[in-house]
Amino acid sequence: MAALNGTLSCFEKMDDVLFNSWTSLLEERTGMYLPKEQRSFLETNLGLRMKEIGMQDYASYYQHLQSGEESGKHEWLTLVDRLTVHETRFFRHQPSLDLLEQIILPKLLTSQSDRNQLQIWSAGCSTGEEVYTLAMVIEQFMKRHFYDENCYLAVTGMDISIPALSVAKKAVYNHYKIRDVPSSYLKEYFIEQDNGHYQVLDALKKRVCFVPFNIIDIKKALLGTMDIIFCQNVLIYFKSATRKKIIQQLVERLKPGGFLVLGAGESLGNPHPELIKIDFPNTLAFLKEPSSSK
Ligand SMILES: C[S@@+](CC[C@H](N)C(=O)[O-])C[C@H]1O[C@@H](n2cnc3c(N)ncnc32)[C@H](O)[C@@H]1O
Repeated sequence: MAALNGTLSCFEKMDDVLFNSWTSLLEERTGMYLPKEQRSFLETNLGLRMKEIGMQDYASYYQHLQSGEESGKHEWLTLVDRLTVHETRFFRHQPSLDLLEQIILPKLLTSQSDRNQLQIWSAGCSTGEEVYTLAMVIEQFMKRHFYDENCYLAVTGMDISIPALSVAKKAVYNHYKIRDVPSSYLKEYFIEQDNGHYQVLDALKKRVCFVPFNIIDIKKALLGTMDIIFCQNVLIYFKSATRKKIIQQLVERLKPGGFLVLGAGESLGNPHPELIKIDFPNTLAFLKEPSSSK
């Protein structure tokens, strides 16, 4: 993600008509909403990409992306990566992980002793840190409380950015990235490479998988229903009507009695009639009604 300060833009200015065309295209295809204040962010990032591929002006670039040609489709994937925010880190939001350990896992695992699988989904997983964090925390909980070798634990990370997913699959992180990983986890799940980077061990990698997907099109994802869905720091980029639609689809992908964990700051009011808010400090999470027939 190009984390450039929008005010530094030195690229061609966009008029209102062009800005509206670009933001509509982005919203239609990804759900992401760019307000007017982000105009120079858009100009800068489009400008940088256009320079890389030798594209002369915004209108021709727009045409190219709309053309339906294979090269235009490919280019779209690169551009989306440049315009989305991939900031993430291991153990990013401790209160949500406390909630997972203190409320969600006890409820799901200890109340059903014959449970043979636990399916978790990280929607908008970026470069994978959230996925590996969830896999580590859950595996440790299972070891402490109930571990059954036969219980299948799978954490699926999904994101619209193909480059972010390939970093996630590689699972190699630099020293700065792993700064919040507790030392016991670091010892058990990572191996330090000669260049000072850390590789996630295969034993953990086999618990996770990564799939490209567009969150505004969840219906198309070939996935079953989940016990837990984490969707943190993703919905903030969408307008409230789009968020509502996404929540509706996430709820459809949750098992009755499953849990939805959102970013703590994502004010949503009452997002869905089948969701019961969980009262836990500094978190925003919901239980899907256990009696729900859907
Ligand atoms: C800020 S990161 C959040 C990463 C992680 N969930 C966390 O909280 O640390 C937001 C991610 O959402 C992804 N994203 C944005 N729009 C998306 C869409 N329409 N479908 C799927 N992922 C999307 C971006 O590519 C980015 O990797």
